[in-house]
Amino acid sequence: MSLSHGFAQRVIDWQAADGRHHLPWQQSRDPYRVWLSEIMLQQTQVSTVIDYFERFLSRLPTVADLAQASEEEVMALWAGLGYYARARHLHACAKAVVSQWDGQFPSASQDLQTLPGIGPSTAAAIAAFCSGERSAILDGNVKRVLARYFGVDGDISQGATIKQLWALANDCLPSPALVCQQPKVMTSYTQGLMDLGATLCTRRQPACERCPLADHCVAHHTGRTQELPFKRKAAERPTRELHLLWVNHGSQVLLQRRPDKGIWGRLWCLPVFDTAGLAQDAVDNWFAKGLACTRMASIGHELTHFRLTLTPWRLALPHSAVTPAVADATGRWVCGQTLANLGLPKPIKTLLIGATPDALATDSHQ
Ligand code: ADE
Repeated sequence: MSLSHGFAQRVIDWQAADGRHHLPWQQSRDPYRVWLSEIMLQQTQVSTVIDYFERFLSRLPTVADLAQASEEEVMALWAGLGYYARARHLHACAKAVVSQWDGQFPSASQDLQTLPGIGPSTAAAIAAFCSGERSAILDGNVKRVLARYFGVDGDISQGATIKQLWALANDCLPSPALVCQQPKVMTSYTQGLMDLGATLCTRRQPACERCPLADHCVAHHTGRTQELPFKRKAAERPTRELHLLWVNHGSQVLLQRRPDKGIWGRLWCLPVFDTAGLAQDAVDNWFAKGLACTRMASIGHELTHFRLTLTPWRLALPHSAVTPAVADATGRWVCGQTLANLGLPKPIKTLLIGATPDALATDSHQ
């Protein structure tokens, strides 16, 4: 008997007994909510997503609201979730649903995949949850479950292994006859697989003693849960040093919009420079020569492909000065209250909001 036989039923039974049933997006089959949750949950944990999801929906309750929202508002609602390309695709997708699909998400995964930011696994998840379509998901957690269960030992970042895992994911689906009789089965199965990967078949310490698949799991039987899935070690992440210019004028702080490409694309940020010298050159050009900045303690920040060391340089322009013009068209003076509503990268938000509006206005050294 093949290993995939009985796999789906064990996942479905486990989901009914021990899976998650009260996540905010599970209370609805509205494709807008399901899609929003799936995009937020890519590379981000449930516990982080819940608050963002609720806040996003209370401000933009329909896909039409999102399509009409300003980019600024969307980025502000997303700020802190990371992977900002997701937010830009999200906005583009809402506009496409309105302009190409008459404001209704298509129901078939094949059509969903044509929209910005929706890959095959996300399309399958949305179609399974919203219309009971029988199609397989394969996100990072599911790759781990399948690689262990079937003892797949190829590198899971390689195309050939991914192809093999997609084939296994399709073999494991509930039978077409069952799905035809009970379309809801696809919701339980898909959610069950996600929950199992997130809560039992975890990367470091899988809880095999509680796993409904352990009896047939190759990695469990051969003592290889720590080895599988196999992924060649990425080279150690390089460190990049950046310098931030933190200039106050009264209660206002100078921000700059990041370029489209590169880190924090299109978010508002303190002006960023590759060296302290370049930051000082900007001060000389934008304000006056001879104004000295105060170096603050550096902050470490992890990104997917490298580590950042951020060194803020602080400068308080005299209160008496007329608000200086921002020489660079991407710049803008922002007061303390507005700051909280802008899309800022997480470490910048922590740096700036950690300081109260009063502190923003002081000349104190830090
Ligand atoms: N990860 C991705 N999609 C999810 C979902 N619908 N529920 C829980 N975790 C998930």
